[in-house]
Amino acid sequence: MSSIILALHSLVRWFVLLFAIVALVRSLKGINGGVDYATGAKRAVSIFTMSVHLQFLLGLVLFGVSPLTRQAMGDMGAAMRDPGVRFFVVEHPVLMLLGVVAATVAGVIARRGADDAVRHRRAAIGVALALGLILAGIPWQRPVVPHF
Ligand code: HEM
Repeated sequence: MSSIILALHSLVRWFVLLFAIVALVRSLKGINGGVDYATGAKRAVSIFTMSVHLQFLLGLVLFGVSPLTRQAMGDMGAAMRDPGVRFFVVEHPVLMLLGVVAATVAGVIARRGADDAVRHRRAAIGVALALGLILAGIPWQRPVVPHF
């Protein structure tokens, strides 16, 4: 069970990154104005945000079933002293939570912008921030291709 969720979590990471890049490119295209936010970038930002929310939920489930985190919960002192384990118990979830917040806030404040240029600029900044946090939180030391 946990190995299937881990493989799914590993796979969905690539969709999150792809949707982030699409949302960033579409937001950047409109920062000088003349591009309708509602018919282009808005949809890309929503798809990116939904993919991050899905990945976050998978992460929460994985946290509950993973042998690594379950063992860590049994002895938090030892887990905190081991940087490899601490990464999955603290750093990874915290960075991803910040990434989810940045992506969600980006979509909300972009929609409230006074004009299309402002909407695109706000979306670009928020998505770039979310992407940076997610890239920083991904365990790149783990396999890049999921094993089902
Ligand atoms: C956008 C959000 C996230 C991304 C892109 C992401 C990405 C990843 C990746 C690529 C791995 C390695 C998979 C592998 O080794 O095959 C991983 C492992 C893991 N993630 Fe996430 N993650 C995210 C959010 C979360 C959250 C919010 C949590 C917990 C609340 C979480 C918990 C875990 C755990 C516990 C592991 C390791 C499990 C194990 O090795 O047994 N993840 N994550």
